[in-house]
Amino acid sequence: MLCRRAPPAPAMALQPISLLSLVLAWGCVASSSLWHTAVAPPQDLQITDPGLLGSLDIEWKPPPNIQTSNGCTVKYKCEYRNAGDREWKVIFTRKLKLRVGFDLSRTAEVKVQTLLKGWCTNDVEVQSEWLYATFRVPLQGKLESEVQNFHCIYHDWEYLKCTWQPGLLAPRGVNYGLYYWYEGLEHTVQCDHYIQDHGVNMGCMLQNLSQAEYKDLSICVNGSVAATLLRPLYATLRLHNLAKPSPPQQLVVSMSAAEELRVVWSPPGGQTPPQCLEYESVSTQVETAFTISRANRSRVSCVRVRGRTNNFCADEGFWSEWTQECFSVSRKEVKQLFILIPVILGLSSSLLIFTLIGQCKKKSPAGKPSHTLVGC
Ligand SMILES: *[C@@H]1O[C@H](CO)[C@@H](O)[C@H](O)[C@H]1NC(C)=O
Ligand SMILES: *[C@@H]1O[C@H](CO)[C@@H](O)[C@H](O)[C@H]1NC(C)=O
Ligand SMILES: *[C@@H]1O[C@H](CO)[C@@H](O)[C@H](O)[C@H]1NC(C)=O
Repeated sequence: MLCRRAPPAPAMALQPISLLSLVLAWGCVASSSLWHTAVAPPQDLQITDPGLLGSLDIEWKPPPNIQTSNGCTVKYKCEYRNAGDREWKVIFTRKLKLRVGFDLSRTAEVKVQTLLKGWCTNDVEVQSEWLYATFRVPLQGKLESEVQNFHCIYHDWEYLKCTWQPGLLAPRGVNYGLYYWYEGLEHTVQCDHYIQDHGVNMGCMLQNLSQAEYKDLSICVNGSVAATLLRPLYATLRLHNLAKPSPPQQLVVSMSAAEELRVVWSPPGGQTPPQCLEYESVSTQVETAFTISRANRSRVSCVRVRGRTNNFCADEGFWSEWTQECFSVSRKEVKQLFILIPVILGLSSSLLIFTLIGQCKKKSPAGKPSHTLVGC
């Protein structure tokens, strides 16, 4: 009984184990044959300059032998930055071509990887190795020949005024040109309204740029002189961050019924969107009015207000000049005092008379009426 029973026990125990391992083995074979766990990077990454002063074209080819079967998608993750930047900018795309903005005075760095996901990867995202490329416009001229102190202000959202100074290495007879481009223009455009100093272009006024608002505006200031090459300056501007409004208008200070000072003004003229403005007076605010309490009234004799683009519309901007209104509450109070003093004096003297009369009347029944009357 015991001998017969003993052998089947290990056999019974082995059976489920071997079944399990069989299932596991099959699973491994199945997953390795049906599900991709690796994918190759894209090929042939190219960066080219279409001559738009900052935008570069990035192109690549799909990885070799890529299966784009049903329910399985191939995407690409492209990261790019200028050499020296800490952060990479990221774009996910199914396309094989991108156009992105760089600062052309620095090296452009780009990397792309393949992303595979779907039925073919058991819905797990599979990433390839990165493919890298860099680009740099041919360096021309010495660094010291680049224009200096270049800056721009977008006045009233109406016109852009950019100014610069000659580079340290500015050969005799040099002249400068400003070129610009933004998405929507077919090609670069040269400034048609230069600001000159002794016949040399030292600035430029650009009008009609509303199509360039909230976009990258690429600018290049280069120089030409007979034989010397000058280093071009590249800049990418965002107009809404360079806006400077005119000062607020119609600043009026008035006294309310509760004897508080009410300060009210209007947004500046020009094309600045009124909802994009904030003001600074006593504090920063988006409203176009405030009140100075009665208690604080005497401490204020002038009110000034200035405006700038608020952070609902831009990351930064320039303050307008101040609008100022001075008034003379104190003098009004002095006048009121002058009026009050005679009244108070009059009142008090008549009060004195009345009290004295009262005292005289009180005293008169007690005797010596003639004396007290003289005293009154
Ligand atoms: C302003 O630019 C638009 C295109 O952005 C153009 O159609 C229009 O003629 C320009 N206006 C002036 C006054 O230059
Ligand atoms: C300045 O840049 C513009 C735009 O890229 C170009 O057309 C022009 O030839 C350049 N001039 C010089 C002197 O480099
Ligand atoms: C009045 O002035 C004081 C001190 O300058 C300030 O703390 C207070 O907020 C002001 N009150 C009002 C109503 O402006």
